[in-house]
Formats: sequence, C-alpha cells, structure tokens
Amino acid sequence: MAVDLVNQIAQVRQRLAPLRDPASSIGFVPTMGALHAGHTRLIDRARSECQSVVVSVFVNPLQFERADDLERYPRTLQEDLDICTAHGVDVVFAPDEKEMYPRWPACTVEVQRLDDHLCGPHRPGHFRAVATVVMKLLQIVQPDRAYFGEKDVQQLAVIRRMVTDLNVPVTIVGVPTVRDSDGLALSSRNKRLDSEERQLANALYRALREAERQISSGVTDSGVVSKEAAAVMPPDPRLRLEYLEVVDPEELQPVDRISGPVLVAGALWVGSTRLIDNLLCQPPTAGG
Ligand code: PAF
Repeated sequence: MAVDLVNQIAQVRQRLAPLRDPASSIGFVPTMGALHAGHTRLIDRARSECQSVVVSVFVNPLQFERADDLERYPRTLQEDLDICTAHGVDVVFAPDEKEMYPRWPACTVEVQRLDDHLCGPHRPGHFRAVATVVMKLLQIVQPDRAYFGEKDVQQLAVIRRMVTDLNVPVTIVGVPTVRDSDGLALSSRNKRLDSEERQLANALYRALREAERQISSGVTDSGVVSKEAAAVMPPDPRLRLEYLEVVDPEELQPVDRISGPVLVAGALWVGSTRLIDNLLCQPPTAGG
C-alpha cells in the first residue's frame, strides 16, 4: 500500500489523531528528502521501535546560508515516496514553504554554546534555523520518538539539548552513520560529486581514522592529532579542509589534552560540495 502523503499541518494532525494511544508509539524521521540508505536506516529503526512511522520531507530554506546551496539541494519527492512505501512508512508530511512559514518567524530557538565550534562559526544562524524547524516539526507531529543520524553530530547535540531544556516530551534517538565501502559517510550532498570528486571524497574519513589511531595509541595533544590527521589527506586542489577539531562529546567544546572519549569532527570541501563527518575516539584505558 502506498504511503499517505499530506502537505498541510491540519491534515497531519487529523491523520495522526487516531494513532495517539498510550499503548502505542509514533516514530518520526525529519528529513530534507533526497533519501538514501542513511535515511532508510533511521526509518527502519523507527519502524522496529514504534507502531506508526512519520517522515517529513522539507528543505528548510532558513538553514541554508548560501542561496546556491539551497538551489542545488537535490529534490526527489516521488523517489522519496517510493522509498517510504517500501520501508513501511505510514505518513509522509511534505509541506511547502508557505505552510511552514506563512510569515517571517519572529520566534526562533537558540541553543547557546553548542554552536560555538565545529560547523557553527562557518554556518552562522544554521543551528538556530535547524532547532527552530525541528521544534516546529515536533509540535506538529508530536511523536514519542524522533530519529536523527550521528553524521550530523552537532545537530543531534543541539536537538538533544533543546528538548531537554524546553521539556519537549519526546525521546531523541541517535542512529550510527551509514558509510559507503570506502568509508564515505552517506549524505544527500554526495549526489553532487562528479566521479573524480567521488574518488577523493573519503579523504575526511581517512583523516578521522588517522585521528582515531593517534588517540588510541596514546597521543594526548589535540593539536598534534589534528595535524597528523590532516596530513593523510591527498594534496589535491579540489580538497579544502574547513576544520578538523577535537571536542568533548557533550558540550562540543575544544579539548586540548585528551584524557577521555572525544569527538573528532571535520568539514571538507570537495570541489563546490561541503561534506562533514565525525568519529568518537577513545584514548587507551589506564594500564591497557
Ligand atoms: O538533517 C536534516 O535533514 C535537517 O537538518 C533536518 C533535521 C530535517 C531539519 O531541517
């Protein structure tokens, strides 16, 4: 049976009303469409844990700082619907911009401090826009559980903090990154890479693995870790490392001396496509 497509907020509420029941749960996977195996991993997890599954498809214009990035973002609604049908999704909510933002939003959600590093300084206003749209979507769908990929680790941390600080009654579930066979994290933006860029694109993953190797072998100076990690990337003019940072996994603040688990995260430009990735790294255990 084909998935139900609804475009209006009132329709989602009406469609979900009979499914709200203390004995069953609604799982929600917010997306910007162009679904790939990373998204289907989220959907399958929601399907296995909840009685009903809702997917939203909305390319949120407010979270794009560059007009060309918004314009080039892949839009594949019919394919997305087919994927949702194949994975047993009950409802797809695909509003247009007017439905989500009938007027300029005077009220936004700002999660402070967590966007001070990593992507935050490079994408001013991005996490405010993400937190705001996710809050709106959570208010519309009112799910019991909402699923997000760990590839967007800063987004996940911001959303977790938002629902905790604002007492939103939802469980946020982080789902591990899905990778291609060469380690490249799946992303809708990978669709923009030409075949030569695609060959180069796992450079960030290789750098992160080098950081992981350094940390697990006992290197404690984050500066050294970042430098050694960046050094494994091929010197190709199409690659530009935007940042590679070592931060604590909770507050995402820089760590100078590594003494516990840390998150190593980076952003790499491959031609005109910006890719992000991260790994949680563990130093050797004392006496180990
Ligand atoms: O990760 C995404 O696809 C988006 O940032 C999200 C969470 C759907 C908000 O627009």
